Amino acid sequence: MARILITSAIPYINGIKHLGNLVGSQLPADLHARYHRARGNEVLFLCSTDEHGTPAELAAAKAGKPVADYCAEMHAVQADLAKGFCLSFDHFGRSSSPQNRRLTQYFAGRLADQGLIREVSERQVYSHADGRFLPDRYIEGTCPNCGYDRARGDQCENCTKQLDPTDLIDPRSAISGSTNLEVRETKHLYLRQSVLRPDLEAWIDTKTDWPILTTSIAKKWLNDGDGLQDRGITRDLDWGVPVKKGTEDWPGMEGKVFYVWFDAPIEYIASAAEWAEASNLTDSEWERWWRTDKGAEDVRYVQFMGKDNVPFHTLSFPATIMGSGDPWKLVDYIKSFNYLNYDGGQFSTSQGRGVFMDQALSILPADYWRWWLLSHVPESSDTEFTWENFQTNVNKDLADVLGNFVSRVTKFCRSKFGEAVPAGGADTPEAAALVADLTARVQQYQAHMDAIDIRKAAAELRAIWVVGNEYLQNAAPWTLYKTDPDAAAAVTRLALNLIGLYAALSQPFIPNASETLRQAMGLASLDWPEDVAAALTALSAGAPFTVPDVLFRKITDEEREGWQEQFAGQRG
Ligand code: MF3
Ligand code: ZN
Repeated sequence: MARILITSAIPYINGIKHLGNLVGSQLPADLHARYHRARGNEVLFLCSTDEHGTPAELAAAKAGKPVADYCAEMHAVQADLAKGFCLSFDHFGRSSSPQNRRLTQYFAGRLADQGLIREVSERQVYSHADGRFLPDRYIEGTCPNCGYDRARGDQCENCTKQLDPTDLIDPRSAISGSTNLEVRETKHLYLRQSVLRPDLEAWIDTKTDWPILTTSIAKKWLNDGDGLQDRGITRDLDWGVPVKKGTEDWPGMEGKVFYVWFDAPIEYIASAAEWAEASNLTDSEWERWWRTDKGAEDVRYVQFMGKDNVPFHTLSFPATIMGSGDPWKLVDYIKSFNYLNYDGGQFSTSQGRGVFMDQALSILPADYWRWWLLSHVPESSDTEFTWENFQTNVNKDLADVLGNFVSRVTKFCRSKFGEAVPAGGADTPEAAALVADLTARVQQYQAHMDAIDIRKAAAELRAIWVVGNEYLQNAAPWTLYKTDPDAAAAVTRLALNLIGLYAALSQPFIPNASETLRQAMGLASLDWPEDVAAALTALSAGAPFTVPDVLFRKITDEEREGWQEQFAGQRG
């Protein structure tokens, strides 16, 4: 049994995430977690909310709430939506947890002990109109690298270059728009990433199996020399992890907090500690996932994230881990994604453009979204969500292919043989050919799932559904029944077993439909078909079943047009 640690990039606390966020980290991570659990592996799947930094402060101010209250409320909202989408986290933590506070301060202390922190007197942007220092991402301007005119002070969204606010051309406050900015002196801590550059490069060079998207971004910043400049890890803010050296005060750093991008990835570790506490487990239970001196050497750690997060996960966080000199687990595989666009433009939280998680669930159940999003996940390039494509694919794959198969088979059986698996008949060459075909296809499916080739896996799963339909169409038990009821019974028995097989194989993609099918087929559990032939005889003659309600309904043209209209503007 393998042990797989899975983390999804932790979503910012401020506001409900859109489908582009969902498909770029949490949803594919869930697919991977569900798959490995189904294969009998031991999985720890963690996510959290990313609660520090100015976006949280500003959103709380806008909502008229103390920031701690706002975060607690939004955490509950996001946890609820995660449940709605069947995201099977073992723990959904919070980067504002006491565990993360302790660990973040601990890491800073370790890095200081190793000589990897230097104190810098820094010039920082103060906004007179706003009456405060402006954190990096609240300064906007033109990117010196690509010329994009809405680059943020921490990173250019357009070219992914990590920036310092003073790099921006024509800077302005993103809070007030004011250009009345002044640069003032203030002291900050810097992580000496440049010292770690050779170690990071050697480490990334061993990752020859990583997606090109991941390594190309990592190498770009590594070789540019730029991505590995020393990074400021503290900020002049109220909300965040107070700067300490381990448990001790840090002279001169009073009133400052760690930069959100320093504490956020440490939350991956803290989330495991939170999980242990919430599950009444000892510290050694989470440390066996995270410490290679305490059992984690055989753990495979896989991270999921959008491409804008790649520099932080390939360089900054590994620098924290390596620099600590402790045997923390480093990531083994980073699956990163391009962007999902919305109907001719970008999904945008700030502009309220696209479909957000709560809205999606208010119009259709999770499985419809899960299927479309995962089968169109932006792996090799950006992809676009259009309502037409969504309607076509849901109607075809889910309603016509899978749903219709289930409905035909169960209803036919009920009408001719009753609501139990029929006896009689013998295997035919066609049935044997089907088993052989499915055996090969299930192996392909597993290979794609193992490799986290999600689109290919979805295509193979769809093909597995199609093969059952074709078998049924050719065997035509409804015709056969008239001349040879026994032969029709054998076909029906196999077809009912195909439903059980589909339920098990489809579970990582569409867990609710799989659960409906499991119950309808009277299966105690959904066992992975390690042996397809055996799985297709799991339901033996006499086993009772029920005809499930419509598994997937079709989306009508009127609905599609209505939604197109409803989601054309900005979210209110
Ligand atoms: N909150 C960030 C985002 O949504 C991701 C943080 S991932 C972590 O882009 F590494 F910091 F945890
Ligand atoms: Zn740029």
